[in-house]
Amino acid sequence: MDSFEFNKIAGAVLGTLLFVMGLGILSDGIFHHGVPKQSAYALPSAEVETASAGGAAAAAAPPIGERLAKADAKKGEGLIKPCTACHVFDKGGANKVGPGLYGVVERPIASHEGFAYSDSLKGKGGKWDYAALDHFIEAPKGFASGTKMAYGGEKDASRRADIIAYLRSLAEAPAPLP
Ligand code: HEC
Repeated sequence: MDSFEFNKIAGAVLGTLLFVMGLGILSDGIFHHGVPKQSAYALPSAEVETASAGGAAAAAAPPIGERLAKADAKKGEGLIKPCTACHVFDKGGANKVGPGLYGVVERPIASHEGFAYSDSLKGKGGKWDYAALDHFIEAPKGFASGTKMAYGGEKDASRRADIIAYLRSLAEAPAPLP
């Protein structure tokens, strides 16, 4: 092997080494290692899920007792406008599409005289305590899946507390706060 041949081989080896090194540097530039600070796409966070799932939102809100302590019955009176399409709130008020709601707090569930309740609500048992009202007004179908109450629900926890504070005031002797 003369020196010219040797130089060719050495050159080829060196060239290959350089090429491989170059590839490494190049690919490092293209495929960035290390953990990115931000995800490339938004991962569904727990917060987003609770905001979209009606039932879970209640779990995130303070308990109804706590919200009622800060609730405003006057504000609630303004918030029941959508309810008046179906309910009468006056004492001795007639049943309309829905049962009369005067004195509903602490009243046995599905017990207003002369109203034909759904089997679903009749089957619930118990009375309308604050927690039951909170759940029903937030998601009627979540509380009683076959309810006839065609109302989507009030999802805002503090507005619900205002509504319930107003319902509580509709009685000769309002039920004690929890
Ligand atoms: C589209 C008509 C409609 C609207 C709007 C509506 N309701 Fe009702 N509501 C009903 C019907 C019908 C029932 C009876 C449900 C059943 O039998 O399943 C009912 C039942 C109830 C009950 C149970 C009463 C009982 O005697 O057991 C409560 C409490 C109640 N509604 C509160 C409200 C409140 C508060 C609102 C407004 C935020 C509201 N409803 C909006 C139709 C309506």
